[in-house]
This record gives sequence, structure tokens and C-alpha cells, in this order.
Amino acid sequence: MQKKTIVSGSRPTGNIHLGNYFGAIENWVSLQEQYDCNFFIADWHALTTGYADTEDLRKNTLSLAADYIASGIDPEKCTLFLQSEVKQHAELFLLLAMNTPLSWLERCPTYKDQLANIKDRDITTYGFLGYPALMAADIMMYRADYVPVGEDQIPHLEITREMSRRFNFLYGKEVFPEPQPLLTKAKVLPGTDGRKMSKSYGNTIALADTPDEVKKKVMGMITDPARIRKDDPGHPDICTVFAFHKVFNEAQVPEIEEQCKGGCIGCVACKKLLQNKIAEFHTPIYEKRQDLLATPDRLTEVLREGSNKASVKAEATIRLVREAMKIGL
Ligand code: TRP
Ligand code: SF4
Repeated sequence: MQKKTIVSGSRPTGNIHLGNYFGAIENWVSLQEQYDCNFFIADWHALTTGYADTEDLRKNTLSLAADYIASGIDPEKCTLFLQSEVKQHAELFLLLAMNTPLSWLERCPTYKDQLANIKDRDITTYGFLGYPALMAADIMMYRADYVPVGEDQIPHLEITREMSRRFNFLYGKEVFPEPQPLLTKAKVLPGTDGRKMSKSYGNTIALADTPDEVKKKVMGMITDPARIRKDDPGHPDICTVFAFHKVFNEAQVPEIEEQCKGGCIGCVACKKLLQNKIAEFHTPIYEKRQDLLATPDRLTEVLREGSNKASVKAEATIRLVREAMKIGL
């Protein structure tokens, strides 16, 4: 039986942190085994809000590629590529733009939200309005069945399905399937201060952080404020360190819970335990990442090969599209 097709990507806007890893990447890694996976770095999408400052774009692209591969995204098992190296995405975006009603884009909740909230840059651009159309092109390009994304991307996927239906209807051919979201039960990991882990809160632990930085961040985590002395009974359910134990140290969770509630373990010892477990996970990924970034030309070549592989698939879809639309020679 033919494998179902998956597409997903993310913008190269900074380093992958543990929240991203457990929210998405870990899942991508396991999907590679059963699906025809197309994972990419959406550098054109980064331009929709970051067009004025492209200084770090290439650096961030390589850094994200290193994060992916070090995390277990395997360029041999999937197609790992760079959006701007697969020019067919631009062609499909242009063709879709011709028949996409403005109202679909204008009423998109992420669009309205960001227009209201981003104040430090001017995002009243044609490209930013077209964000969902470019994302639809990314997905439709591989005629994807599933798109593993977070809750926040659901409106974009809705628009993608509408655009697929509209294309098939307008040109009388079933060129595009209707891609479904693949929402996974991701592990929830708060930031080091207990809020959602997010770059804008400055509470992340990144794969790119050195083992020493990670250690400092773990030892500085907020615990149950009611615990002043070691024998004060603790409330693990409101403790960030405990939330991390649930992800990194599942086996010891019941015993830590009991010891914390009974005032038999101190927070420093508890953090030390956690810090060791996080290091076991983080250090090998960090080292692999450093290795990859030590030879940027090789890493670039991996992305180039992946992009060539993607272009072959993309070209096949473009042929169907041009045929259905009766455009070109
Ligand atoms: N919009 C996605 C995000 O911000 C990134 C993205 C671009 C994407 N094109 C995509 C995700 C296609 C899935 C499929 O996370
Ligand atoms: Fe949190 Fe551990 Fe301290 Fe309990 S002992 S409050 S779980 S750090």
C-alpha cells in the first residue's frame, strides 16, 4: 500500500526549544517511519513579518536544520528541504493567488490577531496577507493527506482545504485532496518560570543552549513557594520542576511526589535529579548539533539535496496544475 503523505514546516526564527521539541519535533521523528514525510524550513514565511531584517536568515536556517537533524529528523527517511530552494512553491502560490477571495485571507484569525498585536513593524503588506495562501501552496504542492500542526495553525489548514476544493471545482479535476490536521497529544512542558515556554517570555531551554547554560536554568527554576525549609510539605502539582520530571523522569515521578508532599526531599536535590535527566537527553543532541554546524557546507549540501528531491515531487504537481488550468505550452 502506498504511504500517506505528510507536510509540515516551521519558520527559521530562532532556536528550537524543549517546548517545540516535545510539542512537535518528537512527533515528526516518529511519523517518518510510517509516512512519506516532507519537512521544510519556511524561510519565505519568515519574510512575511521579517522582510526588513534578513541579516540572520541564513544563519537561522542552518541552525534550524541542525536542530532538526540532531533531534532525529533523518534526511534519508524523509524529504528535508528549504522552501526558497523549491521554486515551484512560488509558482503554485501565484496561481492560487488568482482565485483566492480576499475575504478568506482578511477574516483569518491569525491575520487579524497579528495586525492588532505586532506594533514594532509594519506588516500591512501584500505578502503578510497572503501568508495562508503560501502555506496552502506548501501543503498542496505534495498533495498532502495530513499536516501535523499545533492548534494555532488550524485556521490556515481550513483555508488550505477551501483552496483545494475551489481549485478542483474551478478546473474540473480532482488534483488536490483535502489535507487533514494531525493533532497529537503532545507532552506539555512549561517554561522555566512556569508560564508557557516561549521565546518572548525568555523562559526557554533551547537545544542550542550549552550544557552549562541548561544546568543553570534548571537550578534556577521556580518551585513551590510554600517550601522554605526541606521539611515543609510541598505541592508538586504547582511546581515547574515537577512538571519537568513528568517528561524527563517518568519512572521516579511517584516517589518524588510522595517525598515532596512528605517534606522528605529538598528542592535543590530534586532539581539536581532533574538536571541529570535533562542532561542525558540534551547533551547528545547538543553535541550532534555542534558537529553539524562545524561543517556548514556539508549541512548546506544536505538541504540542497533534500530540496532537489522535493523539486522533483513539486514539479509533478505543477504539471498537473498547469494541465488542469490549461496554462503554458
Ligand atoms: N505557519 C507555520 C507555522 O508558523 C509554518 C508553515 C509554513 C507550515 N508552511 C507550512 C506548517 C505548511 C505546516 C505546513 O508554524
Ligand atoms: Fe518541586 Fe521537587 Fe521542590 Fe517538590 S521537592 S517543590 S517537586 S522542586
